[in-house]
Amino acid sequence: MTAEQLGYDKMAQTYADLIPDTFGSPLEQAAVDAFASEARGSDLGSTIVDVGCGIGHVAAYLTDTGFTVLAVDPSTGMREQAELAHPDLEFSADDASLSTVDLSAVAGVVARYSLIHVPPIGVREALADWASRLPSGACVLLAGQSSDEPGVAEFDHAVAPAWRWHPDSIAEAVTDAGFTELWRTVSRPAEGFHRFPEFHLCAKRLR
Ligand SMILES: C[S@@+](CC[C@H](N)C(=O)[O-])C[C@H]1O[C@@H](n2cnc3c(N)ncnc32)[C@H](O)[C@@H]1O
Repeated sequence: MTAEQLGYDKMAQTYADLIPDTFGSPLEQAAVDAFASEARGSDLGSTIVDVGCGIGHVAAYLTDTGFTVLAVDPSTGMREQAELAHPDLEFSADDASLSTVDLSAVAGVVARYSLIHVPPIGVREALADWASRLPSGACVLLAGQSSDEPGVAEFDHAVAPAWRWHPDSIAEAVTDAGFTELWRTVSRPAEGFHRFPEFHLCAKRLR
């Protein structure tokens, strides 16, 4: 069952007003582009899943580069904003479990700043489940707030309970689930918007 997202439902309009740009930095865009190249090179077709797609910026970006994007989010409010901004795309109710999505013909799964809202044990379970259902060669891109301390710790996110992972710890979770890490980035907070380091991690399902 899709988890309720009352925090994001209430904030969705504000979120859309405050975050008009698809990417917060050139690095974010480069990470999505590198993931997209990897997915394209897998020869698994052109279907990408965007988990916790929010207001649909990245789903729209990937659609514009030729992918068919299955965009899912548990928040009704965020999906409504996504539909307003991108009436040509479809946004469905689902969460990190991806219980409504057939992953058997999917080339890649992107989860930007959405698995942060899943408790650590749930992240591990979701990753293992995705790995068991994705075809060999499919890739995943995860992004989230990070930490310089080992392990994973809850932090005071403004909208919903959230956890930030040390890059080695999220890499270990991804590897334990059955993926092979391809690359990762760690960026440091610039003045203003970001409080924490952030990671992007790309990994591939190889059987
Ligand atoms: C910070 S926004 C990120 C949105 C988008 N991925 C982006 O990169 O702009 C976090 C999103 O994660 C979604 N979310 C919260 N809990 C989730 C869960 N358990 N599974 C998947 N997505 C979740 C929220 O509804 C929200 O839209």
